[in-house]
Amino acid sequence: MTLWSARVGTGLAPEVWEFLRADDAELLPYDVQATLVHARRLREAGLLDADELADAERVLPELEYEPGEEDVHTLLERRLGEVGRKIHAGRSRNDQVAAAFRLYVADACSEAAAAIAELARTLLDRAEEDAETPMPGYTHLQRAQPVTVGHHLLAWVEMLERDLARFAFAAAQAEPSPLGAGALAGSTLLLPPPPGPTLRNSLDAVADRDFALDYLYACAALFAHLSRFGEELVLWTTSEFAFARLPEEAATGSSMMPQKLNPDVVELARGKAGTAIGRLAGLLATVKGLPLAYNRDLQEDKPPVFAARRDTRLALAALRVLVDGLELDRGRLAAACADPAQLATDAAEALVREGVPFRDAHERVADDVRAGTFVAPAAAPRPAPGPGGARAAVAAARARWDGVHAAR
Ligand code: ARG
Repeated sequence: MTLWSARVGTGLAPEVWEFLRADDAELLPYDVQATLVHARRLREAGLLDADELADAERVLPELEYEPGEEDVHTLLERRLGEVGRKIHAGRSRNDQVAAAFRLYVADACSEAAAAIAELARTLLDRAEEDAETPMPGYTHLQRAQPVTVGHHLLAWVEMLERDLARFAFAAAQAEPSPLGAGALAGSTLLLPPPPGPTLRNSLDAVADRDFALDYLYACAALFAHLSRFGEELVLWTTSEFAFARLPEEAATGSSMMPQKLNPDVVELARGKAGTAIGRLAGLLATVKGLPLAYNRDLQEDKPPVFAARRDTRLALAALRVLVDGLELDRGRLAAACADPAQLATDAAEALVREGVPFRDAHERVADDVRAGTFVAPAAAPRPAPGPGGARAAVAAARARWDGVHAAR
């Protein structure tokens, strides 16, 4: 039975019913939360008595999902029994689903932020351990100038810091409540507004899914970063680079070749970046042609968000294990930046300090490199990590994560 069967005399064809049903079990706890808010509004307006509200407050938190209804909103109303017959006054599934989905997205954002912080802290531990371990820095995937492992890992941490900001933005976008918008134009019952910030325009309140797009964008950008880390780890763990070995708890074997140890975890993170980007593109395509206000197309907003949340949680947790157990080969890293030519820029800059124009210095050093007569200058402090060197940079990053980001 649907909530609207009074309007359509004959029952729905089974094929139609199957097609219409929402895959929204994950939304139930958030619909419960939003419905409790709505029930209190009805109580304030005198449309539920104290016992009816108490009933709703007792039944709702205990509700368990069962398949068979059109969506979780229907399930919830029907399980509420007599109070259920009153609960839908002054609301529609259109503001109801938007309210529940906003709570869902806000929660998914906090979950992502916490998991990002865990991965960042693990990277900071590793960056601290090898703050001053030299390694080659690359441009065009050609050895360029030496950097340190600490500096390289802090670059990954920077990406995660921006990801955190994107999830915070998506959470803020999801925060205002659409309750009161009804189907599209509010309700003559004029219920008191829900607590906290609310949306101003009732048509926008039921039609807007920008908060979900912002969440999917945050996930896509995060996965683009995880994919970049993944690509580097694939390279570092090849026999060709051999900068690192995968920990056994985060490596896979081959079903045929007994000797193999494969980086499937980081490859899957890289692969899932494509899927994450696809989810964002998919929902953008869903909303782009929709007239105001609600349209059933919007039911397609939830599966990609549910899947993005799951992938985000699983990928961050698995990568944390991998980063934690990664074994660096410091000898290989040092050997890879032992070629004095990686200090050619330093040599040119030493000439600049003596008054040689940079282009002349560049040409002189290039000639030496070509002739095989280049001699590295006396070791200059690596400027890249900034004042205080690599250790200070790690400490500063850790202070940020322990301070500002801990509050998130
Ligand atoms: N299951 C629907 C969705 O996810 C709930 C809203 C249905 N509203 C309606 N007017 N048919 O969007």
